Amino acid sequence: MVKELKKISNGVEKIVNLCKNRGFINLSSEPYGGFSSCYDYGPLGVELKNNIKTAWWEEMTKRHDNIVGLDAAILMSPKVWEASGHLSAGFADELVECKKCHKRFRFNELKPKTYNLKPIICPECGGEFTQPKKFNLMMKTFIGPVEDEAAVTYLRAETCQGIYMNFNWARNSMRLKIPFGIAQIGKAFRNEITPKSFIYRTREFEQMEMQFFVHPKEADKWFDYWKEERMRWYLNLGIKKENLRFHEHTKKELAHYAKKGIDIEYKFSLGSPGGEAGWQEIEGIHNRGDWDLSNHSRYSGKDLSYFDPSTGSGQAKEKYIPYIIETSAGADRSLLAFLIDAYSEVKGGRTETTESAKEIEIVLKLDKRLAPVKIAVLPLVKNKKDLIKKSEEVYNLLRTEFVVQYDEVGSIGRRYRRQDEIGTPYCVTIDFQTLEDNSVTVRDRDTMKQERVAINKLSDSLIF
Ligand code: GAP
Repeated sequence: MVKELKKISNGVEKIVNLCKNRGFINLSSEPYGGFSSCYDYGPLGVELKNNIKTAWWEEMTKRHDNIVGLDAAILMSPKVWEASGHLSAGFADELVECKKCHKRFRFNELKPKTYNLKPIICPECGGEFTQPKKFNLMMKTFIGPVEDEAAVTYLRAETCQGIYMNFNWARNSMRLKIPFGIAQIGKAFRNEITPKSFIYRTREFEQMEMQFFVHPKEADKWFDYWKEERMRWYLNLGIKKENLRFHEHTKKELAHYAKKGIDIEYKFSLGSPGGEAGWQEIEGIHNRGDWDLSNHSRYSGKDLSYFDPSTGSGQAKEKYIPYIIETSAGADRSLLAFLIDAYSEVKGGRTETTESAKEIEIVLKLDKRLAPVKIAVLPLVKNKKDLIKKSEEVYNLLRTEFVVQYDEVGSIGRRYRRQDEIGTPYCVTIDFQTLEDNSVTVRDRDTMKQERVAINKLSDSLIF
């Protein structure tokens, strides 16, 4: 996979290599040579992604008692996308094509690199470009067997439109009062012109979006609140402070629906997936104003305004279209940031595991809550039946509660090393003393300190 991605990812090969070799992420349709910048999450990738999604879901729906969850359909009426503005020029990238090699590029990606070259030339072959053309990013499909205009619909380009469709239903059924939020995790699709960037920019991706409905006068206050909350979430899950920053959108950068926007950016220091090392967006926080609910009210004929129950009775109640403060994170993009941030190399290897001074050992210092495998169970040697039996007992005890790997292959140092590479926080070793007093050693991934713990206290002593 690195071979295919080398020409396009410029610097993230180490991560791509690790992802491929250790079961995190692979090309989609691999036997056919991959497909169109699509990726599959393997046994460890899916655990890591699920842990990120769980951390986000719990943050939203458990830490905040005024946020509820939702899982809306990917396919919706095409009218939704007409009303949201996604079918018009607002949701389009400018595309240019090289007249010589016919490669296509996003115009705004070329400009910063070559703005003082007149005219802008193709970075691949030096050819001249066509004039920029608007290219809509909606992914078209057909409903039913007849592929005519009447059957056209779209795969959703952002998950939040499903939330707006259910604004009234969720509010009424759960008796929600403003301010309140609706959270959703799900797939979104965009016909990106140049995905080319491992999982950073793909045509199929997953979003974790929360839409917070507020009184228009309180929009600024809640925007500031959510901006800080979202930054805190990444920091709390271990991303280094110096690798995160805010980037406020200029008027030109604002999405067609936004009054105000700020990105949380991650510093892709290993070489950004876009090809240049540097700051790139992992989440957007937007004040969408009343854009969505007003347009959906207008297009559907259904009133999506809110009667404030705290303001008098009957006709005297204040009625308004709520403003929406949105937090929109990419599950795949943040996964890439978590992986890169956790990636560290120890030159010469770590004392207990190294086999040669030239070695470079990888340690994935993922937050323990995110680590795909929580515990490794390792018999000290594999040719002692009693040790293996005891190890299997410990493995069966822990696996009901945690994701656990059992490994008896190779030296103990080599096995520690394999676990460090995938970020396993704890290695539990069963040795000869275990057979005498039912205690095991627990090795901490980061400190490499080993402690003896009684088997019956094991699951309580492991902190995540
Ligand atoms: N509902 C607002 C919205 O979709 P966005 O800034 O277009 O806003 C939000 O997208 C987040 O979704 C981004 O910060 C990014 O993490 C993720 N995202 C967007 N397009 C993506 C793509 N092509 N591949 C992977 N992730 C993407």
